[in-house]
Amino acid sequence: MTNFLSLADVTDLDALIQSGRDAKANPFADQLLGKNKTIGLIFFNSSLRTRLSTQKAAQNLGLNVMIMNVGQDSWGLEMEEGVLMNGDKAEHVREAAAVIGRYCDIIGIRAFAELKDRDSDYREQVMQQFARYARVPIVNLESATRHPLQSLADCITIEEAKTVARPKVVLTWLPHFKPLPQAVANSFSEWMNARAASGHVEFVITHPQGYELAPEFAGNARVIYDRDEAFAGADFIYGKNWSSYTNYGQVLTHDPSWAVTMDDMVRTNAGKFMHCLPVRRNLKVADAVLDGPQSLVIEQAANREWSAQAVLKEILKTY
Ligand code: CP
Repeated sequence: MTNFLSLADVTDLDALIQSGRDAKANPFADQLLGKNKTIGLIFFNSSLRTRLSTQKAAQNLGLNVMIMNVGQDSWGLEMEEGVLMNGDKAEHVREAAAVIGRYCDIIGIRAFAELKDRDSDYREQVMQQFARYARVPIVNLESATRHPLQSLADCITIEEAKTVARPKVVLTWLPHFKPLPQAVANSFSEWMNARAASGHVEFVITHPQGYELAPEFAGNARVIYDRDEAFAGADFIYGKNWSSYTNYGQVLTHDPSWAVTMDDMVRTNAGKFMHCLPVRRNLKVADAVLDGPQSLVIEQAANREWSAQAVLKEILKTY
């Protein structure tokens, strides 16, 4: 593996999931792999889990870690080519990525969608520019359209918690008052479609009309607009809010009946609840769901360490 930008960079998903589970069982088995190497974690946006879990995973592999918040710790970065840089961004990504690539053997980048221009967000300009100019492997710490480290942790969590060979996994839209990117939902859908294609899960998406994911991410998933029908017999409920793709970046409804409550969970097959966190309690999910035995959210977040470790190990073995 030379970059980890999306599922397309994974050659053997079963093996990567198993590698994460192996790391969880024996975190320090490869502690010399990253010796005398450095990873730089570059954040354009806030983070709790991604920042700490990736740092911890890197340390488990013996890597040195440097972290930078762009615009706070560093100069603001210009991404466009050929522009007159007379605005508030003092440095171009050409120099910044090239310089960081001299200090680091691997670079992790977090850069969310701006939700202003769909074409611009879906071009993944920040990831692509760093991949182009840094000349070292790039790890996606959540980009405009994807969050693959989260999706790998989600796959590990489902493998650990499943009680049937081919569980029914339901991605459900949750209400929120402000527009959020589609990245987590896109990525989860992309990875679950792959798991469905290999016979590991049945995958269903439910959301209000107008919240259809981009076709390349919805893929072959069964979309069921009737939420009760979608929840029936589910083994896993994966909650997430996202803004509209078709009416790009807009909030089309605040309908509170899409928040997940215990009344919803009883319709499932003793289903487990998942969410990538952070989550706004009682706006998106009821306290009783998050605090009950059906909630996997803490274990899911804990598994971010093992998904990061599996990916960094794969890169260190290749690079
Ligand atoms: N799930 C996730 O990526 O969490 P953070 O935004 O806190 O990193």
